[in-house]
Amino acid sequence: MTSDALTQARAAYDDFKARGLKLNMQRGQPSDADFDLSNGLITALGETDTHMDGLDLRNYPGGVAGLPSARALFAQYLDVKAENVIVWNNSSLELQGMVLTFALLHGRRGSDQPWGRLSDGAKPKIIVTLPGYDRHFLLLQTLGFDLLTVDMQPDGPDIDAIERLAAADATVKGVLFVPTYSNPGGESISAEKARRLAAIQAMAPDFTIFADDAYRVHHLSDDQQDTPVNFVALSRDAGFPDRAFVFASTSKVTFASGGLGFVASSEDNIRWLSKYLNAQSIGPNKIEQARHVKFLQAYPDGLEGLMRDHGRLIAPKFKAVDETLRTELGDSGEYATWTSPRGGYFISLDTAAPVADRVVELAEAAGVSLTPAGATYPAGQDPHNRNIRIAPTRPPLDEVYTAMQGVAACIRLATEEYRAAKR
Ligand SMILES: Cc1ncc(COP(=O)(O)O)c(C=O)c1O
Repeated sequence: MTSDALTQARAAYDDFKARGLKLNMQRGQPSDADFDLSNGLITALGETDTHMDGLDLRNYPGGVAGLPSARALFAQYLDVKAENVIVWNNSSLELQGMVLTFALLHGRRGSDQPWGRLSDGAKPKIIVTLPGYDRHFLLLQTLGFDLLTVDMQPDGPDIDAIERLAAADATVKGVLFVPTYSNPGGESISAEKARRLAAIQAMAPDFTIFADDAYRVHHLSDDQQDTPVNFVALSRDAGFPDRAFVFASTSKVTFASGGLGFVASSEDNIRWLSKYLNAQSIGPNKIEQARHVKFLQAYPDGLEGLMRDHGRLIAPKFKAVDETLRTELGDSGEYATWTSPRGGYFISLDTAAPVADRVVELAEAAGVSLTPAGATYPAGQDPHNRNIRIAPTRPPLDEVYTAMQGVAACIRLATEEYRAAKR
């Protein structure tokens, strides 16, 4: 009976492989149809649109904090005031890197020492959630931070664990995570956990919440949406006005390569950051900022309307992943469990057996490219060898169905191989 299961799983896999497909489920990128929604961005500015907010866009107008209209627009996006926002160039990861670098070199407001020169040569530590986003790990480790890890739970990071780590050690300088529709599991932090995190009693006076709110408005439907939190307000209300930096961008709203990144924080923190940005730049690209303002204002129902249109394109792909896995692997968890997010860009899948690397290998050989096993853990090492990030947004819908049939066949085969070897 059991060797039958292996034989059947191998036959199903071989059938899929024989189709000679070439499918890609690893890139967390918008599809061409998503990009097409924003093609109007390219021509949103005409030859005569040289000014906005009374400023000449072609010169160096208005300093480092961004064009007033862009600040106002993205302040609304992040639920803060325009004074609390810097609108920069195209990447929010770059902004995260700059804030972390300035903290290393100069210390934050309220720091006793620069984070890069702590007493006794201690390395600064940042808490991250697992499974998590590989580029957060890469950024932090490249800058020389040690990573501490806590679990991402269905209602957000394990706050008890964060409390313990932050209370025990003044070199624990903060936590970096995705508060809404997290990468890779799609979890959102609950209002209660967000309040607790904002009020945490850390040993470091400059303990910082780095909230990468990349998917804050990326809902899959109109009626079932997670509610994003406001860490700038929560931290202020908890008596730690400078505790939070919230980052986001339009990389998955308009164009991934040609969007706008922005950051919100207290007004004092905005001044702190502006001082260092001003030392390295006369200002961000205001033409791009004006283009986004004009395009998003003209889009039917504005940014909300655009996100609704993205949701209509993306939701069926999430459904395709869920439906196919349920049909092929069942609901019992015998082969795998996976998340069912209400927004964002990813689904996190855990295999029942420790076979994630084998699944990715089998999939690659059968023409389905998946995010490398382990990518959701620091240094690419998943200690349980179970987690796989599924990225359904980029391929067309029919390819998502086909690719997931293949992934399911790989999971079955890898699991049956493992079980047979154990016998
Ligand atoms: C959580 C998260 N943050 C940031 C980014 C990249 O943002 P940006 O293009 O603004 O640097 C991504 C892209 O996948 C992401 O998933």
